[in-house]
Amino acid sequence: GLFIGSAVAGGGHHDDASYPDPFTSDQAYRDVLAGEFSSLSPENQMKWEYIHPARDTYDFETADRIVDFAERNGQVLRGHTLLWHSQNPEWLESGDFSPEQLREILHDHISTVVGRYAGRIQQWDVANEIFDESGQLRTRDNIWIRELGPGIIADAFRWAREADPNAKLFLNDYGVESINAKSNAYYDLVQQLQADGVPVDGFSAQAHLDLDDGYPADLTRNLQRFADLGLETAITELDVRMTLPEGGTPTEQQLAEQASYYGRALDACLRVRTCHSFTVWGLPDKYSWVPSTFPEQGAATIMWDDFTRKPAYDELLDGLNAA
Ligand code: G3I
Repeated sequence: GLFIGSAVAGGGHHDDASYPDPFTSDQAYRDVLAGEFSSLSPENQMKWEYIHPARDTYDFETADRIVDFAERNGQVLRGHTLLWHSQNPEWLESGDFSPEQLREILHDHISTVVGRYAGRIQQWDVANEIFDESGQLRTRDNIWIRELGPGIIADAFRWAREADPNAKLFLNDYGVESINAKSNAYYDLVQQLQADGVPVDGFSAQAHLDLDDGYPADLTRNLQRFADLGLETAITELDVRMTLPEGGTPTEQQLAEQASYYGRALDACLRVRTCHSFTVWGLPDKYSWVPSTFPEQGAATIMWDDFTRKPAYDELLDGLNAA
């Protein structure tokens, strides 16, 4: 009952020849995705800027290919994402829309995208990263919350449920692995949404971990409190980055520590009854988002660039075999 997933790397612009898309161009990569995982998450290809390039235009080409690929390989999918402050198209962010128009745009987007894949997506990240680090709703940088107020979050869930009654609908964020201001904000929000009859099914921790930050030792306890509210839980974007030594190759000790982080995160999911989905945010290291965002850091995934296994891979395998 546990699905083991990977992000599917790619820029999403199937027509951008200057930017090779691993999912299109790398057969060895596709073989690993098909052979090692039971769930896939498009890393970018279902985000607004790729799937909704103009107000009246949707571009499903790459997303369709990922969904077809998953089905051919007997895999489920996590849809990512519907209401977010980032990777929105320019036409939306700098458009001059009235609140009524924006509402209609979001409703149309959710109905169209969720409706297109209805019955084929196991879990949708309906609302992504809606709180900031201090546990405040992103009222400035999230266009939906800023222009339409926090009630739009409930509407997004309702519209997603209408478009696909079978998909599990999630709140998803980073920095919510531990019990802290941000995860507390989710804990409160979930209870409010439930009291209002809003169809929210799940809470997920992305789990972009960093050896420099230490391991979130209360991950199990945190997921458990959401499970106790009746929610599905999930780990959706696990990776473990580190500051690389001169030369760029991680030390044995770093690799061992990384393996232990991966193993403990899996263990946390295995211990929480409602955690059915455990996803790593891509592989191998050459396709990871980390180095472009954190230039000193890297080596965050479970595979070397030639698809051989790092200690973290073996740790996960051991954990699954022991379960
Ligand atoms: O598609 C363009 C391509 O046309 C262009 O030539 C190229 C030049 O740099 O950029 C390409 O777009 C990049 C895209 O990834 C595809 O590689 C964007 O610049 C880059 O910003 C984008 O980064 C993604 C990031 O989200 C953006 O927020 C990462 O791949 C993706 O891993 C990352 O994923 C997020 C989750 O969605 C939410 N949680 C955090 C996680 C990590 O940041």
